Amino acid sequence: MIREIGQVVFNREIAKHFFEAEIIAPLISSKCKPGQFINILPSSHWKNVMRRPMSISFQDDEKIRIIYKIVGEGTQLIGNWKVGEPVDLIGPLGNYWKGWEGYFPILMGGGVGIAPILNLHYYLNSQNINHVLIMGARTKAEHFLQPSQNENIFLTTDDGSIGVKGWITNALNEFPFDPLKSKIFTCGPPLMMEAIRKLALDKKIECDLALERLMACGFGICQGCTVEKTNNEKGTHSYRSKFALACIDGPIFSSSELVTC
Ligand SMILES: Cc1cc2nc3c(=O)[nH]c(=O)nc-3n(C[C@H](O)[C@H](O)[C@H](O)COP(=O)(O)OP(=O)(O)OC[C@H]3O[C@@H](n4cnc5c(N)ncnc54)[C@H](O)[C@@H]3O)c2cc1C
Ligand code: FES
Repeated sequence: MIREIGQVVFNREIAKHFFEAEIIAPLISSKCKPGQFINILPSSHWKNVMRRPMSISFQDDEKIRIIYKIVGEGTQLIGNWKVGEPVDLIGPLGNYWKGWEGYFPILMGGGVGIAPILNLHYYLNSQNINHVLIMGARTKAEHFLQPSQNENIFLTTDDGSIGVKGWITNALNEFPFDPLKSKIFTCGPPLMMEAIRKLALDKKIECDLALERLMACGFGICQGCTVEKTNNEKGTHSYRSKFALACIDGPIFSSSELVTC
C-alpha cells in the first residue's frame, strides 16, 4: 500500500452523469492489478477524515484512470479537479480479479461498477483472451462504450434506447456459452449483483463479484465494511470465518461465499 501524490491529466464527462479522470501516479499504476481500488482524499482542504474509494478503470506504467458519478460532497470535489492539480491517493487496495484460466470470462458492469470490469477487459485483451463484455445502464445517454458483436461488447438499457432492453442479465441470451465452462466477473449496484449472484448459483456458473460497500479507512481498521459470509458450521464458527471485511478480504468475493450482495 502506497501513499502517492498524483497529478491530474484530464477530468471530463464521458456520458450523462459519468466522469473519467486520468492521474499520473507511477508508484500505484506499476503495482496495481485489475479489480483493485484507490482511496482518494478529494481535496487537501477537505475537513472530512474519510477518503473516498474508487476502482481503477485503466492502468499503464505511469497513469491510472477512475470513472465516477457525482453523488455527494467528496465526488463533487473530485469533479472540480483541474488539469495538473495534485491529488492525494492511497493504493493499490483490496484483492484483484483472478481465476479465468480454463473458463470463458463473461464481464458484467452496471453503472460506475463498469470501472473495475473495464480494467479487466483491457487486461484480457492484452493477453488475447477471448471474453464477453456487457455494460448495463438506465438509458442510452449513460453509455460511453460502443456495442460490437465482433468484439463481443454488449450494452443493455432499462428503457431499450440502445442494446438489449431490460436487466443486464438479459444480455446473456445474446451469445452462446457453456455455463459449466464460463465464469462471470461483475460489479455494479447491489440489486444487480444480487440478481447475478442468484442466477450464477442457480445455473452453476462460477461467479466473482466486486462489492462497493461504504468504506471509511479502506485498510481493515474501522470494521465499517463488514460482509456476512456463508458458513455452514453454525455456532462453531469464529467471527472472522463468518464475517469478512470488504476492504481487505475483498472487494471481490465468490458468489458461493456471500450470504447476499
Ligand atoms: C471498493 C469501492 C470501489 C468504488 N469504486 C467506485 C467507482 O469506480 N466509481 C464511483 O463512482 N464510485 C465508486 N465507489 C463508490 C464511491 O466510493 C462513493 O460513491 C463515494 O464514496 C461517495 O462519496 P461522496 O462524498 O460523493 O458521497 P457521500 O456524501 O459520502 O454519499 C452520498 C450518497 O451516496 C451514498 N453512497 C456513498 N458511498 C456509497 C457506496 N459505496 N455505495 C452506495 N452508496 C453510497 C451515501 O449513502 C449517500 O446517500 C466505490 C466504492 C468502493 C467501496
Ligand atoms: S473500510 Fe475500514 S475496515 Fe474496511
